[in-house]
Amino acid sequence: MKIKIPGIMLCAVLAGSSLNGVYAQTKPVNTDAKISAIIKKLTLEEKIAMVHANGLFSSAGVKRLGIPNLVSDDGPLGVREEVKPGWGSANLKTDSATFFPNGSALAATWNPDLAYRYGHDMGEEARARNKQVMLAPAFNIARTPLCGRTYEYYSEDPFLNARLAVASVKGIQSQHVAACVKHYAVNNQEVERGRVNVEVDERALREIYLPAFKASITEGEAWTIMSAYNKLRGVYCSENDYLLNQILKGEWEFKGLVMSDWGGTHSTVAAANNGLDLEMGSGEKYDTYYFAKPLLDSVKAGKVSVKVIDEKVRRVLWVMYKTSLSSNQPKGSIATPEHGKTAYDIASESIVLLKNDKHLLPLNTSNIKSIAVIGDNATHTFHLGGFGAGVKAKYEINALAGLKNRLGGIVNIKFAQGYWGKYAEPSPANHNGDDFNKSDPALVDEAVAAAKSTDMAILFVGANRDYESEGRDRKDLSLPFGEQTLIDAVTAANPNTIVVVVGGAPYDIGEIKKNNHTIVWSWYNGSENGNALADVLTGKINPSGKLPFTFPASLSQSPAHALGAYPGQNLQVEYKEGILVGYRWFDTKKIEPLYCFGYGLSYTNYKYDDLHTDKTVYTADDNITASIEVKNAGKVNGKETVQLYVNKSGSKVERAEKELKAFKKVYVAAGQAVTIKLKIPVKNLAYFDDSTKKWIVEPGKYKLLAGTSSRDIKQTANITIN
Ligand code: NOJ
Repeated sequence: MKIKIPGIMLCAVLAGSSLNGVYAQTKPVNTDAKISAIIKKLTLEEKIAMVHANGLFSSAGVKRLGIPNLVSDDGPLGVREEVKPGWGSANLKTDSATFFPNGSALAATWNPDLAYRYGHDMGEEARARNKQVMLAPAFNIARTPLCGRTYEYYSEDPFLNARLAVASVKGIQSQHVAACVKHYAVNNQEVERGRVNVEVDERALREIYLPAFKASITEGEAWTIMSAYNKLRGVYCSENDYLLNQILKGEWEFKGLVMSDWGGTHSTVAAANNGLDLEMGSGEKYDTYYFAKPLLDSVKAGKVSVKVIDEKVRRVLWVMYKTSLSSNQPKGSIATPEHGKTAYDIASESIVLLKNDKHLLPLNTSNIKSIAVIGDNATHTFHLGGFGAGVKAKYEINALAGLKNRLGGIVNIKFAQGYWGKYAEPSPANHNGDDFNKSDPALVDEAVAAAKSTDMAILFVGANRDYESEGRDRKDLSLPFGEQTLIDAVTAANPNTIVVVVGGAPYDIGEIKKNNHTIVWSWYNGSENGNALADVLTGKINPSGKLPFTFPASLSQSPAHALGAYPGQNLQVEYKEGILVGYRWFDTKKIEPLYCFGYGLSYTNYKYDDLHTDKTVYTADDNITASIEVKNAGKVNGKETVQLYVNKSGSKVERAEKELKAFKKVYVAAGQAVTIKLKIPVKNLAYFDDSTKKWIVEPGKYKLLAGTSSRDIKQTANITIN
């Protein structure tokens, strides 16, 4: 008998407990019993085939039993195009997808509803492309601003990461596509990522690096997780009993499967016994994988038990029952206008207004007849670039096109190249990178002429996806491509210069902050990038993005760098800053950053009033409900993210000056006030006690701090925990 389900032919030949009717049936299935029955029918060889790759993004099913391959694909920017072995494009016409804004852009929205929509829509696209597992979301903590994948990840804060991760996972999995949360764990740098050993104290591990993974498993119920390339405490993450067996499968009761990062498996027996379920990689000799013949031999030699193998197969099948073998599967759809709208909404809520001293923004088009749009990033696209996963975008509106779409008929727009955003790895041939970092005098002259002859200049600078890339970290925080020379020249040529910086991570924009009155931060902002940006600049959208990480004034301010604890020596990196990551460090050490975590302006201004809690004294099992009134005191409607931090003074242990414990983004019409409620379970105020390995809620006084950023606290309230 053959059952046709979207894209998969199931030959349901198993009797009784088989896959027979799986797709059609609507009653809840006793999946465990079905899985057990299937496992009984599998030969050891078939089981082994199910736990290692048989293609770049797939592992084997069992044809004779109608069990399909398990097929994954990369995110997180969208569903990656089909690639051939060796990673070259398969040049298909059917795999163009929606390019969703990058991870730090999504984090800058501070909007879990958008994270859910992102996941949901990407899940639909994965479904349409017959992918059972999306290798997303990715949310390693931004420990250093230099990490090459900061743009893919979310933020420097575990709570913000957790809220977004849970929502993204739920969105993806609503489409019967497994989310694969990555990279578990402490993959916080790309330098030597495949070999480096991370030494981090237990408290920092539990309070900073694991919470978003924990939440994505225990709340988001992610069905798969990817082990990281690096080592933790001397043991590769892919064979790390503590991370995989004890914490993930033990404490968090994870039911799904652990897959390795590509080529990130280093042993057979240790990896098999310590919790890895599926070995993935890009080498084509699949039968030589650690989890192929060597695993079969190890089972035969009694070094890995059949029980351990059955457990892995159980997990693989469990994921299949959630995805390819689930009932009532959604059909999926790809690159639809609805998905474009999600990309647009994320982009438009992610853009951060950093400075607007002359109120040049929103643009007053009745005064402006001509605009010089300058800089490579005005026309650059970001769906592909660098090393690692991108998206073959069905379309991507660049900034210039967006501005023309919105202002074309009203304003005369002149474009000048300004600089070329061409990155090449530093080498003797390019004078160790000096070449790509030099400005081009002819392009600068042309830009200056354009700026002089127009009412206003909008200058697009920053980085691109060749410059920020998987596989390497940036060398420093400076803007590439000789941009500062261009910025200085254009700023001198036209007093009405707006600087738009595009990037996925912090940069040193100190000179711009000092010399320019109008600064906007944008990201690798997806298919609708240019339209969203133009709508922010023209005021159709009131900016509401808030920085998801601290911008240090210099690298030496940043904790890992201040302590000489990056990128490590002799392949060892010690996280000496402990829990003081990001703003936790800057606030506790009283260091003034360039821009603080949570910062972002609006075209209106908000007044906070009447922060109060439902009680003043709580016990460990309580929830704290804090209420606060937010008034839009300006003339335009807007969205504000209220950030609620908690301070514990007089603690027995080291504490960060403040920690984010709740936030809410809220729409407030001009002149109106809304009262919002923020909930903090008291247990979330606990610290992790290294000696007892327990979470401890310290009794005593706590202060709640409600702010529009981590450093602009508007209201405070005191509570006591008994
Ligand atoms: C390596 C990356 O670290 C991971 O994020 C990605 O999913 C795999 N390669 C597959 O492309």
